[in-house]
Amino acid sequence: MADVAKIGILVGTKGRGSNMAAIIDACQSGRIPNAQVSVVVAPKEDAPALAVAHEKGVATLSCPVEATALVRAFADCDVICLAGFLKLLPVEVIEQHPGRVLNIHPALLPKFGGKGMYGMHVHTAVIAAQECVSGCTVHHVTPVYDEGSFLVQKSCDVFPDDTPETLAARVLKLEHEAYSEAICEVLRGG
Ligand code: GRF
Repeated sequence: MADVAKIGILVGTKGRGSNMAAIIDACQSGRIPNAQVSVVVAPKEDAPALAVAHEKGVATLSCPVEATALVRAFADCDVICLAGFLKLLPVEVIEQHPGRVLNIHPALLPKFGGKGMYGMHVHTAVIAAQECVSGCTVHHVTPVYDEGSFLVQKSCDVFPDDTPETLAARVLKLEHEAYSEAICEVLRGG
């Protein structure tokens, strides 16, 4: 790996990009040492997160969710982070970067994961199940939704008067810390 590790981030079409922004900030402040976000990729040019990345001085790219284009987009990256990307990643991208493709999920996997479990659906399900604890999970990406070994989990209380929105806000703060910690672990070879 180069002296400065290159991180590529894949965001979704509509996501606000707060995890992406937290990773960029952590690299720029040195909380993730010797690393930089070299590119942020989105399936559409008007994805809101791309504008945020651009403001932070990071190169952006829109490209179709298709193996050849994504492999090329991330060719010189050392780590790839999915942040609000809701589709399955083509297996070629995973094979290109073995053990170095990460995702974050807003619940304590293996509970409340899988197809259709994203965004407010997750927090609504956690509250409906009367869970006392929720949190987030950073995990390795595999060709199956929300599978792959865990790198970091962080937990928080679920209060009786929580709404999906209040719980999502509490979990999101944890997500921003957890993702940087997980990237550091991968860069250390963990
Ligand atoms: C986060 O809750 C993350 O866990 C999930 O998608 C959401 C993206 O939020 N994978 P943001 O765009 O990073 O703010």
